[in-house]
Amino acid sequence: MATGLNAERYLPDKRTLPVLQKAVQNCHGCDLYRNATQAVFGELEAGSEGNRPVAVMMIGEQPGDKEDIEGHPFVGPAGKLLDECLQQVGIDRREVYVTNAVKHFKWEPRGKRRIHKKPSVQEIKACRPWLDAELEAIRPRLIVCLGATAAQAILGSAFKVTQERGKIITKAGLPPITATVHPSAILRTKTDEDRHREKRAFIADLKKIAALIA
Ligand code: URA
Ligand code: SF4
Repeated sequence: MATGLNAERYLPDKRTLPVLQKAVQNCHGCDLYRNATQAVFGELEAGSEGNRPVAVMMIGEQPGDKEDIEGHPFVGPAGKLLDECLQQVGIDRREVYVTNAVKHFKWEPRGKRRIHKKPSVQEIKACRPWLDAELEAIRPRLIVCLGATAAQAILGSAFKVTQERGKIITKAGLPPITATVHPSAILRTKTDEDRHREKRAFIADLKKIAALIA
């Protein structure tokens, strides 16, 4: 069924960030645009565009409820936690371009709430041309996959984040890649103890990244 899904034909000829950012709003490369408010493209922290070379591209899964409404990546609870942890390890947020493997919010209703739904392999593949265009435009020195969906998009489904987090992986045509958990996995833990442990492990991974880009 979903074999024909692909964003490629919606990509503009001129692939600068502002042009891509506009063009993605018209993407019908898969069905996820239907129930989302808008596409959420990657970006640098507001106000820091062009200030310095981008050291890191961090890739999440997809926009969440707040991102879908506001039109910016990582502005909800997961983004707040990410910003806090970046600050703790001394990574300048202005050197980090944040984006997502999938640009539209996938959700299902539960009462009045919109509950996040995992994008399918086909949807991740369909959206990959946008990610490639971002990589071309940004040329980061390091790619950081946050969680399994981003790792799937960049490293394939055989990659297991839990077993291989923090390793540096090389892939033809791409800068060095590393993967860690998604900050929302930390927020989803059931006990304080689990949350603290997961957060410490996440910060340890970010520390390695900080050393790499220093
Ligand atoms: N989670 C993600 O993966 N991306 C966002 O932009 C926000 C939450
Ligand atoms: Fe296009 Fe990606 Fe949105 Fe699907 S999720 S419609 S491929 S931008």
